[in-house]
Amino acid sequence: MPIGMSALLLDGRVLGSAILDETRIKVETLAQRGIQPSVVFIRVGEDPASVVYVRMKDQTAAKLGIRATTLVLDKNISQEELVTTIQKLNSDPSVHGILVQAPLPKPISEQVIFSTVDPCKDVDGFHPVNVGKLMLGDPTGFRPCTPAGVHEILIRSNIPTAGAEVVILGRGNIVGKPMASILVQKAPHCDATITMLHSRSRDIRAHCLQADIIIAAMGSANFLKADMVKPGATVIDVGVNRVPDASSPKGSKLVGDVDFDAVKEIAGAITPNPGGVGPMTIAMLMSNTVKACEIAAGS
Ligand code: GUN
Repeated sequence: MPIGMSALLLDGRVLGSAILDETRIKVETLAQRGIQPSVVFIRVGEDPASVVYVRMKDQTAAKLGIRATTLVLDKNISQEELVTTIQKLNSDPSVHGILVQAPLPKPISEQVIFSTVDPCKDVDGFHPVNVGKLMLGDPTGFRPCTPAGVHEILIRSNIPTAGAEVVILGRGNIVGKPMASILVQKAPHCDATITMLHSRSRDIRAHCLQADIIIAAMGSANFLKADMVKPGATVIDVGVNRVPDASSPKGSKLVGDVDFDAVKEIAGAITPNPGGVGPMTIAMLMSNTVKACEIAAGS
């Protein structure tokens, strides 16, 4: 790429709205059969980020014609009570999708809670059955929404992955690990060579400089600098970090894991943040919800 040229912007709002349009058509097709997809969001406590995320998910679902319900539970709810709440939704045939927003209050085990959701209603793709199906490449499972959204960005932007060197920064269960599972599959738009880096990795910069695609999902503000990126590489920023900012009325602002202003001068393509991965996550959640409904309806 010529010096001084900025990267192609991978606009998650545009790409995500195309997925929402496709999903809306499926909702309308189900409506002709008298079926309406429905999803229940469970939020425990008042974590400020979770309040915003769940509201956005609920509003997007409603706009598509999906029946969305948000249960707000007290932060002191016991694990047992939360399990019972989920079990009731599991056995309610009018509910197709269930999502328990993370993080949960400390004494509650996320692993226990995610394992309680019926795998057929697990639109987050966090149940061990769906994690296993993802690893096996079984398309009947649900893929976690954020890595599935990153994959859709790459597919819809014609960024080749077969044989590509992909560096994933971060090894979390919500993004890093499932992202690797998706891109390593022997399948169309996958077939990548994956390097996963984390807090104990050596020579992070050297690994990143080899990468055709870097997916930053480690939760460290502005971590990926321009001198860590090969010219022309694709950079996807999954990070959402709140940092102090004296010029903002709140005294803080959100930044990604990528030093966007500098990296965009080196990268070939880059996601903005906000407006990159975030809208894709929500779009994939809607897509998963309709898929759960279609399977339950036998279509
Ligand atoms: N917290 C952060 N990301 C997610 C997500 O994708 N799903 C849920 N349920 N909680 C989250």
